[in-house]
Amino acid sequence: MEPYKKITELKSAEAFHDFVKSSGWNLPCDAAGLEAFSRPLEHRGGRIGNRWAILPMEGWDCEPDGNPSELTARRWGRFATSGAKLIYGTEAAAVMHEGRSNTRQLWIAPHTYDRIARQLEAMRKAHARRFGSADDFRLGLQLTHSGRYSHPNDDMQLESRIAWHHPLLDKKFRNGPKDIASDDELRRIIERFIEAARLAERAGFDFVDIKHAHGYLAHELLSAVERPGPFGGSFENRTYFFRELCDGVRSATTALELSLRLSLADFIPFEKNSEGVGTPAEWPEDKPYPYAFGGDGTGLGWNLEEPVAFLRLARKFGVSLICATLGSPYYCPHIQRPAYYPVSDGYLPPEHPLRSVARHIETAAELKRLCPELKIVGSGYTCLQEYLPLVGASVLEAGQADFIGIGRMVLSYPDICADVLEGAPLKTQCICRTLGECTTAPRAGMVSGCYPLDPFYKERPEAKTLRELKKERRKTK
Ligand SMILES: Cc1cc2nc3c(=O)[nH]c(=O)nc-3n(C[C@H](O)[C@H](O)[C@H](O)COP(=O)(O)O)c2cc1C
Ligand code: SF4
Repeated sequence: MEPYKKITELKSAEAFHDFVKSSGWNLPCDAAGLEAFSRPLEHRGGRIGNRWAILPMEGWDCEPDGNPSELTARRWGRFATSGAKLIYGTEAAAVMHEGRSNTRQLWIAPHTYDRIARQLEAMRKAHARRFGSADDFRLGLQLTHSGRYSHPNDDMQLESRIAWHHPLLDKKFRNGPKDIASDDELRRIIERFIEAARLAERAGFDFVDIKHAHGYLAHELLSAVERPGPFGGSFENRTYFFRELCDGVRSATTALELSLRLSLADFIPFEKNSEGVGTPAEWPEDKPYPYAFGGDGTGLGWNLEEPVAFLRLARKFGVSLICATLGSPYYCPHIQRPAYYPVSDGYLPPEHPLRSVARHIETAAELKRLCPELKIVGSGYTCLQEYLPLVGASVLEAGQADFIGIGRMVLSYPDICADVLEGAPLKTQCICRTLGECTTAPRAGMVSGCYPLDPFYKERPEAKTLRELKKERRKTK
């Protein structure tokens, strides 16, 4: 396979523009300037100071009991001083031990509440120190149960709680009959979400994000077409978990905003073919693929009819801030997290990574067109590298999203937002090149971080272990 043309080969904005136009992808890049990032946005009677958002990014680095550690504090501090005025979710916080994705995931509970509240206060102070005020700075906490991807007691030992049996994912993750969460268990999980939201409000978060994305439990329930009982089957039943949860949160809190991170469309799982390239799992050609929420029945395209109905329903519960994402890092990583270099358990991209970025932008733009009343945070921009600000400003100018969210880029380049807002030239040595080590490290049981570009992580012993792992992998190829 010919390697895809790299961003670093496109030496100017004109070259990037010409390449994008000749590709035929829907990737806006016509903005004359970057002022669109500076415009504040009125939201729920207040103001969010600019159009940058930091996406939720966990670090696999909390204390074993779920309290934030010094590494967590460092990451949150960098988010707070990035220049973005919206910290969309900070990172995925488990609502209960059994639903932790790893043994070092943040866990919001009575025994962690104090330290989380202190970290949050430190973030507001750090933001105000650097930017003069935190009055227009909004912070949310992402709440989640990891469902199929839970590893609460051992990072290498799955203890899945699944919503239903997926014929392809069950094989990949070796799920069996005992892994199905019963209706009573789902009711208990809803109670934990409600308690977590109550604690998040007490800790001082402006909003909680109820994660319906990336194949975790709440997302999986949206596609529980074959689950019998109150939590599966019809659209109404598949959204019952969400409705019960929102009702409970509204009664248990006073001013806390609810928001949603949603995989707008899901896709069939991809696997490595003999050349190492991602390819869709085998599925009978004459049978529609019914398991992708927001999918078009082929497993490879999208149809936003149900996601739009879901978000209109969410609107009735006061949800108006949406973080748009796609698919899952566990079974279609090229769609969820476009990259030039595969992570350790991934595959070579089956399409140009910028095509994957364009898909994120197109789906969010379609949602914005269908539901203009929603405030939409876009994701998946990091792969644009030098041209992230240009594309982001073009998307904002075209009204295709309200905030440009960044994930990996803020790990390698913690003040990119401030640089763009101040009109400073980009620090090219800090630009994320999608090398994937922030994902590969936790997949091997180590804390996450930008090992190639952040001097702090470069110095840590894990950096050496990662290099050795890479060498080993090259030898066995
Ligand atoms: C190290 C790492 C941790 C992540 N943690 C979370 C998380 O806690 N919650 C979540 O919804 N997404 C998480 N994501 C996904 C990002 O929020 C984002 O959607 C993804 O990286 C694509 O955006 P980007 O291209 O700007 O990186 C994580 C991604 C990475 C690389
Ligand atoms: S390790 Fe650093 S350069 Fe690599 S993808 Fe993560 S943030 Fe980007």
